[in-house]
Amino acid sequence: MPAAIAAIGVHLPERVLTNEDLAAEFPDWTVAKIAGKTGIDGRHIAADDEFSSDLAVGAVRALQRDHDVDLSTIDHLIVVTQTPDHPMPAVSSIVHGALGLPTDCGTVDLALGCSGYVHGLGLASALLDAGQASRVLLVTADTYSRLLNPADRGVRTIFGDGATATLLEPAAPGRGASAFVYGSEGSGGGALCVPGGGLRDGGLPEAADPARRGLTASGADLYMDGPAVFEFTLRVVPPAVERVLAKAGVERDAIDTWVFHQANAFMLGHLRRKLGVPEDRFVVDLADVGNTVSSTIPIALARAKDRGALAEGSRSLLLGFGVGLAWSGAIIDW
Ligand SMILES: CC(C)(COP(=O)(O)OP(=O)(O)OC[C@H]1O[C@@H](n2cnc3c(N)ncnc32)[C@H](O)[C@@H]1OP(=O)(O)O)[C@@H](O)C(=O)NCCC(=O)NCCS
Repeated sequence: MPAAIAAIGVHLPERVLTNEDLAAEFPDWTVAKIAGKTGIDGRHIAADDEFSSDLAVGAVRALQRDHDVDLSTIDHLIVVTQTPDHPMPAVSSIVHGALGLPTDCGTVDLALGCSGYVHGLGLASALLDAGQASRVLLVTADTYSRLLNPADRGVRTIFGDGATATLLEPAAPGRGASAFVYGSEGSGGGALCVPGGGLRDGGLPEAADPARRGLTASGADLYMDGPAVFEFTLRVVPPAVERVLAKAGVERDAIDTWVFHQANAFMLGHLRRKLGVPEDRFVVDLADVGNTVSSTIPIALARAKDRGALAEGSRSLLLGFGVGLAWSGAIIDW
């Protein structure tokens, strides 16, 4: 039996970075210009003493507040993160300890970004389907703000921190996650990369070097070639959508809600028009959170659920794309 999403908890750090704050730092980018280009008004930023495992635990606590979940029954914990607290142990190990999960619970980190939630959903679904797990916690947690050069306005306007926790259980017949497709273009990975803070010096495109970008190196200094990521997305997403639909054996009209990775509103608008999806079926929900990487899809799902947009019997198409470069898609029958 595949996985059904039983509930989703969301946790966002308290601190908020607004467009007003950014416009004060970068006066030639006005509040209206930032909002107009990205569709983002604010992003949450982790406190100095707040790390991915803290956000992850917060998301599980949020899940527990809204849903009766007995943590002693969780037999697998997957944490999707690219900003671990330490090189080791894994964030999933830290979270396992902090939550007091059972010792017979498997733990694993997935080092994926924007495609991570759907990829994690696929792995969780496979564990459930194979009888290797009966109740899986899929957590997404990232503090990308720690990877950003303070003077790089192109990325500071886009990324925000956050975490989610999704409880996955075996689905009833005809329900749950299906039609998973995956794709990778590792040769393009340099378009979205972090040159600093790892073990290897060099090995990434010279363009990623902060000095070449007119920046004073500040640590990790995430590099994003915006037009390259844009081109990649518009090129790979439409065929990925076709693969999901073909695998599910359904037509486009059968999709009630399209929930893509919330990269930025500019790119989502281009994608929606290219795919010909009606505006009222296509979720754009990032104004107050920004691009939270692997958390964008579960945040959008949790909010859509709260609005009553994911009614029982309805169908969603999920698609994540970005860092890797990588993508993954699936159908959810609610
Ligand atoms: C980043 C991105 C929005 C830039 O758009 P673009 O049209 O390629 O931007 P350009 O560099 O050509 O600049 C066009 C205008 O937008 C402005 N602009 C670019 N990025 C901006 C931002 N983040 N906020 C405000 N204005 C921005 C530029 O200053 C320029 O203004 P001007 O016309 O007044 O000179 C776009 O490339 C994109 O969406 N890329 C995908 C990146 C992404 O989503 N990554 C997330 C990981 S999946």
